[in-house]
Formats: sequence, structure tokens, C-alpha cells
Amino acid sequence: MGSLQVRLFLTYLIIIVVTLGLAALTLYLQVGGYRDSLSYNSLEDLGRLVDLQAETAMEGSEPPTGTDLLLNLRNFVNSSNSPTDEETSLAVVDTAGRVVAGGWASSVALDEAVVDDLKSGDATTGPAGARAPTRCRLEVPGRPRQLCVSIPLSETVAAAFPGTGATDLVVAEPAADLTTVFGDLTPRLVFSGLIGVAAALVLGFLLSQSVAAPLRNIARAARSVARGSYRQRVPATGPTEVRELAATFNRMTGEVQRSQQTLRDFLANISHELKTPLTSIRGFSEAIQDGTIVDPEGIQRSARVISTESSRVLRLVEELLDLSRIESGQVSMQQEEIELRELFEHVREIFALRADEGSVNLEIAAADGVHIRGDFDRLEQVLNNLLDNALRHTPAGGTVRLASHALQPGVVQVTVSDTGRGIPPEDVLHLFERFYRAKDNTGSDGRSKGYGLGLAISREIVRAHGGEIWATSEAGRGTMFVFTLPTAIRAARKRGSR
Ligand SMILES: Nc1ncnc2c1ncn2[C@@H]1O[C@H](COP(=O)(O)OP(=O)(O)OP(=O)(O)O)[C@@H](O)[C@H]1O
Ligand SMILES: [Mg+2]
Repeated sequence: MGSLQVRLFLTYLIIIVVTLGLAALTLYLQVGGYRDSLSYNSLEDLGRLVDLQAETAMEGSEPPTGTDLLLNLRNFVNSSNSPTDEETSLAVVDTAGRVVAGGWASSVALDEAVVDDLKSGDATTGPAGARAPTRCRLEVPGRPRQLCVSIPLSETVAAAFPGTGATDLVVAEPAADLTTVFGDLTPRLVFSGLIGVAAALVLGFLLSQSVAAPLRNIARAARSVARGSYRQRVPATGPTEVRELAATFNRMTGEVQRSQQTLRDFLANISHELKTPLTSIRGFSEAIQDGTIVDPEGIQRSARVISTESSRVLRLVEELLDLSRIESGQVSMQQEEIELRELFEHVREIFALRADEGSVNLEIAAADGVHIRGDFDRLEQVLNNLLDNALRHTPAGGTVRLASHALQPGVVQVTVSDTGRGIPPEDVLHLFERFYRAKDNTGSDGRSKGYGLGLAISREIVRAHGGEIWATSEAGRGTMFVFTLPTAIRAARKRGSR
């Protein structure tokens, strides 16, 4: 009962059953009226014929008495051979609708009967000379009411009923019994209903299956993912919402798989980065220990290598710790007001000599009066890394340019561009990943390779300041790193007005 498929199935079934029930009810109600209308039509036809017959009977030289006339009409009705004739009644009534002369069906006495809705005195004649019959109802004591038509008596015919106040001739038949109508219809309706319900069962099953089956697939795949199988993908089938769910599930599993892979790569990278320096540290220290290196000069050299390599390891560990602290939000950035020009001048001092040595033209162009709010040291760390990278990859005679300009009110854009050999498009996408280094990573100045952590750390710092960083590069023409920072306009204005 709790399963979605059963619920959907039952819902479809209930809807079909209720709809069929309502349709049957409406049909029953309409059939009653339809039968009445058919009966009235045939009564009207019969009424016109009876009226004409009465006129004809009265035309002779010896007109019949009222009783004879009624007998004559009775016989006429019986001879017309309709299946309902046995039940057909004839009566002559006065203005109040009371039966004043004769009028019997084979088994019904109409003495006490009263005609409702009697419209007397209408002598309009129809095309065949017959007067138009009016629809009415005949109340017969102790019996179901009957349908009737009344035809106003012509003077000739009325003469057959002297002193009775007779005004109309009434032809009546019992109304079609609803239970008979229902009795006829019910087996057919039940049969149609059963076919409908059977169709509903099949369709309901198929429809509920089309929704439930893809959901079951997703649930099964989710269980596999929970057990650690991240390759699971589900086919996107079923209704739109279920297809969207499947697509989202697939995206999610893809992301989980990717992040697992990143974690594995990360550990592999760290192990790899640690292995080389630790191997040489162990090699040299063992050589000293077991007496392979004994000369003081050799020991000095070994000690230098051990010191350099352990600094390298230490730097790696510090950078990793730094990155993970910024990523997890443990490092709080200072919120001091910084004039961008001041920051740029500071990094110029750091890199001017190195640019000179490498014969690289270092251009620094800060927009005037731009203030930002942030952490001076951390932003310097970003610029240091970007300029270090740029100088490392720009050959002698090239240019490295650090510039800033207002992008839109409240946002300043800082660019570090170089005229180096550029980065292939497939590498640009991965620049900011941890440990990512382009394949050929030896700088123009031949300095030692970095760890590939600088840009990852830079991105975290920029993001912590509410900005974003990206790179564009053209092979052979150079690279441009761009990052945005929110300005401290209001703070600057306040300071200016003081
Ligand atoms: N301006 C540039 N021109 C060409 N390649 C670049 C440039 N900047 C970065 N790269 C490429 O991107 C890689 C990643 O840079 P990132 O600063 O993250 O690491 P790194 O400089 O190699 O090492 P670290 O900064 O950790 O000392 C570099 O190894 C280099 O291949
Ligand atoms: Mg770097």
C-alpha cells in the first residue's frame, strides 16, 4: 500500500471507477426524459388520428352518442396495432381536467382520473385538419401517473356529449417505467463498466510502472553509490520530473566520482612531491652515518643538500596547510582599507630587480585613488605568485604588466599580463587545480619548478575577498590573469572628506 506504484495504480483505478459511475448516473437521468419525449411524440401522432376519426364518425346523418363514439375510437386505436395500445386510454374531460365521459384502457378505469396541465380551447388545426394536441399528465388514483395529450373537442364532436361540459379529448399511456428502463440498460452498462475497469487496470499498471520503474532504478543506483560504486549511472526515462531527477542523480554521482578522483590524485601528488626530497635526505644522512662520506667537504655538501631538501619539504607542507586553512575558512582575512597603488608599488620593489636581471620590462599602472578593503599580506601573496609566474615564463625582452581599472561601480579589476609563450587551451582549464603544472614547466630563467599550488592558493584568497579569478592565454603571444575585488568607495569618500 505504501509503494508509489500501488498508490498511483489505485489512484488511476479510483478515477476511472468514479468517472464511469458518474457517466452511468447521468445516462440514467437522461434516458428517463428521452423515453418520455419519444412517448409524447407517438401520443401526439395518435391524438391527431383519433381527432380525425372522431370528426369522420360525427359526419354521418345519424351521429353516434358519446358512448358509441368512444367505443368507435377505442376500436380505432386497437386496430392501429401498436404494441402499447393495450395500455392506451381514451377519455373526454371538462375544463377542470375531470373525466366526464367513458374512457378506459383495457385494464384501467379512468373515472377518478384528473388531467394536469390541460390547455383547453385551443382550436388551431394542423395540416391534416386535426387540432394540435397539447402534452399533459394524467393522475390516476392508485396508479403511476400517465403521459397524455389533450385535443380540444370541435363543436361537432362536443355535441356527442351534451350537458357534460366536455371540452377535450385525452389520449393517455403509462409513462415508461424508470425501473424497466434501468432494467434494460443495467446489464449493458455493467458490461461496459467492466470493460472500462479492466482497461483501467491494465493502463493503470502500465502508467504507474512507467513512473515507479525509473524511480526504483535511481534508488538501486543510490544504494550502489552508498556502497562506494561511483560509476553508477541511471537511464533518463519516464515523465519529465523523473528524467530530471535521473539527470541530477547522474550529475551528482559524476561529481562524487570526480571529487574522489581529485582526492586520490591529491594524495598521489603529495606522496610524489615528498618522495624525491625525502629520498635524497635519507641517502645523504645514511651516507654520513655509515661512513661513506667522511671528508669534511663532502659532509658540508651533504648537509647543504639535506637543508635545501628539508626546506623544500617544509615549504610544501606549509603551502598545503595554508591552502587547506583558507579553503575551510579557518583563516580570517584582515579587513583593512588598502590603496591599490600602495600595494602595486610594494610588489614593484620586490620584482623590479628580478625583472631587470631577466631583461624583462615590468610595467605597473595602478588607477588613481582606488581603495579596496582586504588583507594586504594575502593580496600581496596573490600578486607575488602571479608576477613570479609571469616573470618565470616571459623570455628576455618581453613585458610583464600589472594594471588595474574600475570594471563597474564597486568592482575593480586587476590584470597581470605577460608576453611569454602562453598556455595551451587544454591547460588553461586546469590552471587553478592543486598541483597542476603545465607539461613543460621550466621557466625562461631556468629556475626550479614550483609545486603548482600558487594559483590554487591565489584563487582561494581572491574568493575569500569576494572576487573571482580567471586566465586567458594565446599560444605564442602571452597570458593574462585577471581577478576582481570589491572596492571600498564609501570608506574612501569618508576619508577624503575629512
Ligand atoms: N604566466 C604564465 N605563463 C605560462 N604558464 C603559466 C603562467 N602562470 C602559470 N603558468 C602555469 O601554471 C602552472 C601553475 O601555476 P602555479 O602558480 O599554481 O604553480 P607554480 O608556479 O608551478 O608553483 P608554485 O606557485 O606553487 O610555486 C605553472 O606550473 C605553469 O605551468
Ligand atoms: Mg606560481
